[in-house]
Amino acid sequence: MINKDKNINQKIKDFNIELEQQLASVSSNEQLEKLRITFFGRSGKLTELMDAMKELSLEDKKIFGPALNQLKKESEQNYNNKKNNLEQELRKLEVLKKQQFDVTAYKPGQLEGSQHVLTKVIEQIQDIFISMGYKIADGPELETEFYNFEALNIPKDHPARDSQDTFWFDVPGLLLRTQTSTIQVHQMKTYGAPIAAISTGRVYRQEATDASHDFAFSQYEGFFVDKNISMGNLLATMKTFLQEFFEKKDIEIRVRPGFFPFVEPGIEIDASCPFCKNGCSVCKKTRWIELLGAGLVHPNVLKCCNIDPEKHNGFAFGGGIERLAMIKYGINDIRFLHGANIDFLKQF
Ligand code: PHE
Repeated sequence: MINKDKNINQKIKDFNIELEQQLASVSSNEQLEKLRITFFGRSGKLTELMDAMKELSLEDKKIFGPALNQLKKESEQNYNNKKNNLEQELRKLEVLKKQQFDVTAYKPGQLEGSQHVLTKVIEQIQDIFISMGYKIADGPELETEFYNFEALNIPKDHPARDSQDTFWFDVPGLLLRTQTSTIQVHQMKTYGAPIAAISTGRVYRQEATDASHDFAFSQYEGFFVDKNISMGNLLATMKTFLQEFFEKKDIEIRVRPGFFPFVEPGIEIDASCPFCKNGCSVCKKTRWIELLGAGLVHPNVLKCCNIDPEKHNGFAFGGGIERLAMIKYGINDIRFLHGANIDFLKQF
């Protein structure tokens, strides 16, 4: 029952404030229904006020009667407004929910993304060497003269340093690496021996672009330094790698002498053509394809990396990733691999 001592005016004010506050926080039909019962239900707050009025004196009734009637009218109006707004809001939400879409849903005829063929080849190379116990190593594309040349036993007057081959920076001694052999030095300097690592990355050479050359391309570089490593270990590793990569168990390798200042002896490795027995367009009828450079790590390189060449030795190998991709997937222009031709890329 209403407290007669408390001014009915005050009660009307309290009712309004409370109703306003609670209406504002209502966001569902359930909450609204609860509010309706509390304020407008048969034994709700409004009924309570109305009942209290019945007990007032005739004079007071005259004063507060109209006020209470107005309160009833206005509060019910407020309630109804809220009800209408809420209905609208909830309907809008329903529509929005229906508009939400599943980004993973498949739409027929849609272009699907796929792994770039170079990424595919990089992962194939990594997988093969990981299976042989190599770790993956990485190094910077922006290099110092020391890592790109000096540490790799390439002296100041060596033609490989020629400004026509190398992109030099305005800052003296800084350049874009011309080969991933730099990673050997970073790794051996940091981790010492024994070490077996495979790395892939982009290299840069200042040269004209044609079907088989680009000024930026990718190389892989592997190296294994331990005790008593021989040329036999290198050749067996290369043969396994090429057989796995081309998925052909009968691939043979052929070795020619090759000069790379950071290996001694240095060799070039050719693979028997994975596509023919008697000569085809891939091997240009020679039955052999030139693939990579390799050799036993030069003692000067080991020394430079604080590895004692009397105790440890090892092999290193490296080559072009685009070349491997082009041979494996029958691509005849390196520029396809570096371009964004969707028709070309979606074949893989
Ligand atoms: N870095 C050499 C190149 O760019 C390849 C190579 C790597 C040769 C390791 C020997 C040993 O041609």
